[in-house]
Amino acid sequence: MEKYRVEARVLSNECIAKDVYQMTLECVDAALSAKCGQFVNLYMKNESLLLPRPISICWIDGAKLTLVYGMVGKGTEELSTYGFGDLLQMSMPRGNGYDLEVVKEGQSALVIGGGIGVPPLLELTYALTQKGIKVTAVIGFQEEPFLMKPLIKAGADLYVATDSGTSGFHGNVVDLMEQEKLTADAYFACGPKPMLNALTNFVLQQKKDIQISMEERMGCGYGACVGCVCTIRDKESGLEVRKKVCKDGPVFWGSEVVWDAK
Ligand SMILES: Cc1cc2nc3c(=O)[nH]c(=O)nc-3n(C[C@H](O)[C@H](O)[C@H](O)COP(=O)(O)OP(=O)(O)OC[C@H]3O[C@@H](n4cnc5c(N)ncnc54)[C@H](O)[C@@H]3O)c2cc1C
Ligand code: FES
Repeated sequence: MEKYRVEARVLSNECIAKDVYQMTLECVDAALSAKCGQFVNLYMKNESLLLPRPISICWIDGAKLTLVYGMVGKGTEELSTYGFGDLLQMSMPRGNGYDLEVVKEGQSALVIGGGIGVPPLLELTYALTQKGIKVTAVIGFQEEPFLMKPLIKAGADLYVATDSGTSGFHGNVVDLMEQEKLTADAYFACGPKPMLNALTNFVLQQKKDIQISMEERMGCGYGACVGCVCTIRDKESGLEVRKKVCKDGPVFWGSEVVWDAK
């Protein structure tokens, strides 16, 4: 049985782009202890949807917690129907989160996101700018961008890419970074696996490393099954080990991930 279950009240739940929703929850104590890169496990009211749905922490403002999610299946479809006053069961905070100690005041950071991997960059940007770090955000979408204004408000210089070319740079985030010659002291990312793989290769070529949040499919969401394993090469021993994204992650160093593991 999972510990740390809390009840949260929905304050708002709005559609901010096609099939993308922004939900703000009131959840007094739990939100205060959360940090960027961690996630919450949301339990649906429909009991046939047994497994919790992991959603990244996008923004914390006192006891208000904001999540941004894409409607992709039954769970997130149900979530999109919740409105003001509805109560939700969730467990939080989950996972390790980004390590901000790698970067110091006066240094720079690139935060890079793809699609529904963009939301955790908001709290990350805010936390970094609060430390006196210059943040550049590079965000990529298939077609319709979101969270642009909040990222600028949180202090980021913003670059946008779309696959369709309808907004910003026509192409992916790696091509955009290459074209603009964007570099930094520290790199952080979240997005689909192929993007994270290409991005890691790009950053490693520059003799840097990158913290990536792996949004693998999950089962239990708290370490009790093996629904979310990924293969990591231990830096010291060189041995390949299986890690649980929900418990040991979701944030790993890009250089440690064995991308072609079976
Ligand atoms: C640590 C973590 C953080 C996450 N943060 C966010 C977030 O901030 N916003 C957000 O929108 N989503 C996030 N996700 C993904 C989110 O958990 C899934 O989209 C959600 O659980 C799908 O539930 P569903 O019942 O709607 O879809 P399902 O009916 O379970 O699945 C519908 C479709 O979505 C695919 N899918 C389900 N889960 C994932 C996944 N993890 N990665 C890729 N495809 C998946 C399935 O293969 C299927 O094609 C995160 C996942 C993890 C592990
Ligand atoms: S989802 Fe069950 S161990 Fe990670």
